[in-house]
Amino acid sequence: MSEVIELRDVVKRYGDVVALDGVSLNVNAGEWVSIMGPSGSGKSTLLNLIAGLDTPTSGSILVAGEEVSAMDAETRAEFRRRRVGMVFQQFHLLPYLTALENVMLAQYIHSMADEKEALLALERVGMTHRANAEAAKLSGGEQQRVAIARALVNDPQLILADEPTGSLDAANEATVLELFRELAEEGRTLLVVTHNSEVAEAGDRVVRLHHGRVEDG
Ligand SMILES: Nc1ncnc2c1ncn2[C@@H]1O[C@H](COP(=O)(O)OP(=O)(O)OP(=O)(O)O)[C@@H](O)[C@H]1O
Ligand SMILES: [Mg+2]
Repeated sequence: MSEVIELRDVVKRYGDVVALDGVSLNVNAGEWVSIMGPSGSGKSTLLNLIAGLDTPTSGSILVAGEEVSAMDAETRAEFRRRRVGMVFQQFHLLPYLTALENVMLAQYIHSMADEKEALLALERVGMTHRANAEAAKLSGGEQQRVAIARALVNDPQLILADEPTGSLDAANEATVLELFRELAEEGRTLLVVTHNSEVAEAGDRVVRLHHGRVEDG
């Protein structure tokens, strides 16, 4: 099923803080949308809500015609397992597991661990040579690439990536952008948060957030 995303008047408040202040946004299946905006403008909040990791204060979030916020916790977890690949801003790798084990753990959660497949995922981000290194001992850019590999193991139709190239050098950034282009060409929908205009322009369209609102134009 195509992963069309439709947000209508989405508000998210954390106490007094208005993280999202009435966001409406449509994303087509197979589209790669870049999300830009200053620190604190609501970018991570937006991805978390679409992934069903959190629920909006008000408004509607439809993914492939399903209202994410109306799902119970179990259904949301199942929705993520089946359809969403998430690259977190803070990576969230388990430090004492190796790169390979981190990817295999995600496979295990999604279905079944398969070392060959996990190695292939690491190969796509240029990380086979460090597959057996503990995550804690990897550089920031290496950890980021493992986090990207991990997000792809469930073959997700929807990829939500929060500054996935923030720690990468130019060569690895180019590799990841090429990978994202392939994923989009396969018909997957990508939402990619970035502060880097070069990365943003690699996508099909840029959406800018400011104080929790989408800027016009
Ligand atoms: N769990 C939370 N509890 C309270 N406030 C929060 C929470 N999460 C986010 N916020 C606040 O909501 C606003 C938006 O945060 P968000 O993390 O979405 O910003 P961002 O655009 O991703 O910023 P950055 O570029 O720094 O990652 C900020 O003011 C932040 O402090
Ligand atoms: Mg953020």
